[in-house]
Amino acid sequence: MARKKIALIGAGNIGGTLAHLAAQKELGDIVLFDVVEGVPQGKALDLSQCGPVEGFDAKITGSNDYADIAGADVIIVTAGVARKPGMSRDDLLGINLKVMKAVGEGIKANAPDAFVICITNPLDAMVWALREFSGLPHNKVVGMAGVLDSARFSHFLAEEFNVSIRDVNTFVLGGHGDTMVPVVEYSTVNGIPVPDLIKMGLSTQERIDDIVKRTRGGGGEIVALLKTGSAFYAPAASGIAMAEAYLNDQKRILPCAAYVSGEYGVNDLYVGVPVMIGAGGVEKIVEIELDDTAKQNLQVSVEAVKELLDACKQIDGSLA
Ligand code: APR
Repeated sequence: MARKKIALIGAGNIGGTLAHLAAQKELGDIVLFDVVEGVPQGKALDLSQCGPVEGFDAKITGSNDYADIAGADVIIVTAGVARKPGMSRDDLLGINLKVMKAVGEGIKANAPDAFVICITNPLDAMVWALREFSGLPHNKVVGMAGVLDSARFSHFLAEEFNVSIRDVNTFVLGGHGDTMVPVVEYSTVNGIPVPDLIKMGLSTQERIDDIVKRTRGGGGEIVALLKTGSAFYAPAASGIAMAEAYLNDQKRILPCAAYVSGEYGVNDLYVGVPVMIGAGGVEKIVEIELDDTAKQNLQVSVEAVKELLDACKQIDGSLA
C-alpha cells in the first residue's frame, strides 16, 4: 500500500509543529505548503534532518505550488494570520477569509478527496468558509477547536485535583471563542463527574467556575504571554489526533467544529459538537442530553457563530 500523504497548508508555527508530529508518528509523507517562498522548503529540510536522529521514516517536502498537494489524504489548514495581543479572533475575520478562498480553491482543484481539518481562526467561520470555497462534502471538512479546548480544560482540572492527566476526560461544546461551553457535568476524573467531586469536597463550585472561565480564555492567556503569536504546540497536537482518527479509522469521539443540520436544534453552520471520526470523515454527530444552562450557553455560542457568518457573507458576496 502506498504511503499516506499529508498536506499542511501554512508552514508557520502550527504548520511546522504539525509536520514534526506527523513525521514522528510516521502518519505518511508530508508536504508543507506556504505562500512565502523558502519557508516551507527550509522547514521541510530542517525537519527531514530530524529523521536520522529521531529515526522516523517520512518524506518531508516544502512547496509554494498547490499542484504539490495533489492526492493528499489529509490536509490541515493553518494558513492565515495568527492573533496578536489585543486582537480578538474575530478581528482576524477579513484577512483570513481571503486566505480561505485561495486555500479552498487550491484544495478543490488538487485534492478534492482529502479529509480537511481547518485550524485557522476565527475557527467556526473559517471552516465554514473553507467548505464553501472548496465545495467538498460537509463530512470531509471539519474544524479543530474542541480537542484543544477540552485539552486545556483537562489540564486545568488535573492541576486542580492533583491527579494524572490520563484520568481526566472533559467535554467542551459550542464555538471556539469566549462563548465556548465547557460542560462540567460531562467532565470526569476516571468516570467521576466533576459535580460529584465538588460534593466530595475535592474542589468548590467557585474554583471550577474559575477554571471554566480560564478555559474559555485559554487562547488569549497564551497570546498575552507570548506577545508575538498564539499557541501552537497544543493546537498542532490536537490537529494530529483528528488526522490519526481519520487515517486509522479509529472511530474516535472528539469534540470538533462540525457541520450541523438539525442536531442540537441548530441548522446549516459549523459549531463545536462531539463527532465520530473514522475513515468516512465525520461519520456521526453525537447528540447528548444537555441541561437548560448548557442549552442556553450553546445557543449564545451559536448566535456568535451566526454573527461571524453574516460578517463573512458581507465581506464576500459569493458566500451569501
Ligand atoms: N496560503 C498559504 N499560507 C499562507 C497564506 C495563504 N494565502 N497566507 C498566510 N499564510 C501562511 C503564512 O505565511 C504563515 O507561514 O500561514 C502561516 C501562518 O503561520 P503563523 O503566522 O506562524 O500562525 P500559526 O501560529 O501557525 O497559526 C495559524 O491557526 O490557531 C490559528 O489563530 C491561528 O489563524 C491562525 C492559524
